[in-house]
Amino acid sequence: MSETNITKPNEGKEAVRETEKQREFMSLVKEMTLSTAKAKGRDLTACVITFGCQMNERDSEKLKGILTECGYRLTEYEKADLVLFNTCTVRENANDRLYGRLGAIGRVKRDNPDMIIGVCGCMTQEADEVGKLQKSYPFVDLIFGTFNVYKLAEILHSRLISGSTVTDIWESNDEFVELLPTKRKYPFKSGVNIMYGCDNFCTYCIVPYVRGREKSRASDDIVREIERLTEDGVAEVMLLGQNVNSYGKGLVEDIDFAGLLKKVEDIDKLKRIRFMTSHPKDLSDALIDVMAASDKICNHIHLPLQSGSTEILKRMNRGYSKEDYLELVRRIREKMPNISITTDIIVGFPGETKEDFEETLDVVRQVGFDSAYTFIYSKRTGTPAAKFDDLPDKKDIDERFNELLAVIKEISAKRAEKLVGETLEVLAEGIDSHDDKLITGRLSNNMLVHFPGTDKSIGKIVNVKIEESKGFYYFGTEVKYG
Ligand code: 5AD
Ligand code: SF4
Repeated sequence: MSETNITKPNEGKEAVRETEKQREFMSLVKEMTLSTAKAKGRDLTACVITFGCQMNERDSEKLKGILTECGYRLTEYEKADLVLFNTCTVRENANDRLYGRLGAIGRVKRDNPDMIIGVCGCMTQEADEVGKLQKSYPFVDLIFGTFNVYKLAEILHSRLISGSTVTDIWESNDEFVELLPTKRKYPFKSGVNIMYGCDNFCTYCIVPYVRGREKSRASDDIVREIERLTEDGVAEVMLLGQNVNSYGKGLVEDIDFAGLLKKVEDIDKLKRIRFMTSHPKDLSDALIDVMAASDKICNHIHLPLQSGSTEILKRMNRGYSKEDYLELVRRIREKMPNISITTDIIVGFPGETKEDFEETLDVVRQVGFDSAYTFIYSKRTGTPAAKFDDLPDKKDIDERFNELLAVIKEISAKRAEKLVGETLEVLAEGIDSHDDKLITGRLSNNMLVHFPGTDKSIGKIVNVKIEESKGFYYFGTEVKYG
């Protein structure tokens, strides 16, 4: 893991004050951690377990950075001195998984009462879940949310002083506190938050309620963060936001996402730019032009469809029709014929008929997605769709889901086959987990390729000839020029 060191703070005076305050808490906690470690004759360990999306992954890197500064040694081992669950609540099964893991860790704590257990992230922004945690999981020591991740040291300090559970949940936060240390999973690539929250209120989605209103960071702050990351060895960034295409709304400066990308492209040492997630209703022609002209923006766009039926899209409050989506894909492919397009699809939304589902299959076939994440609709309390009571039959939903999976598998395998024989740039990411003579790397289109090599190439961009497609990954051989 690699550490980003902090240079000059720049995200507003309040943020600077807050950063300093949190640094003080980190050193206070560190003193306590080191003295306990001395008494025990060993390091204290901390394990952060992440559920959900890239936003949560990035938050966990921040949490790990703080815990390291607090004197903990990070471990993947769940029976650590401090265990922190960074939760997701986008679908019900994410909640179920958390409670299962929490029950198991509670039993571990019975033998080790000094253990500290924390829960943070999207789930704790729901009052009902906090109530359940407090009532049924009294062994949880720290409960905090998505708006005060950077306060971990302060919250932990308060728990260590008081000896009782600390619950600290905020409804929103107008301050960006971005200059605390982070521990990146990969030294050579990093997520970068460009905005927080979501204003779209798709009727099925809990995100606007747990991540709050949309808020963009100033472009100069984003550029400075990326520059610092490149100084620290980062070659690829993933610009993160729930809806990156509406980046810039509410900022004093006059900038949109296409404008931000141009500024990021100018960062010398940066080699690759990715972003996530694009909302089809806000994807501009300017963005398509910037992507088409760019050497660094990857050849991939994730464009959640959700449903191919205009009727269902209306009920989902997505703001586009089936035809709008197809026309958008046409415009994208006109400028970038080989771009990889991936998507998210929800099956079994309330009111979805067989005909609606056929429309989804029709879009899947017409677009030819390179891959798709498919989800069965999950009712989230508090969202408008939770009041829709016309759910399709479970049997129909399962059948549709399986049919969709099969169609996607066939289409994406056919698309993947097209690259066989080409030599393409690959960012070497690590040793293959099944065969240590192979390196696993990522193509610009986001697909993985395994090729013979050594750890010397990790973090570098190398040329790989694609020899064989396995449907959703490849085998290849490195090509060295000159
Ligand atoms: N049920 C099922 N899938 C959902 N998603 C968001 N909310 C729900 C829900 N209530 C899916 C969407 C989104 C992805 C991140 O998760 O497809 O794009
Ligand atoms: Fe949820 Fe829609 Fe916002 Fe995505 S755009 S986070 S699906 S409300």
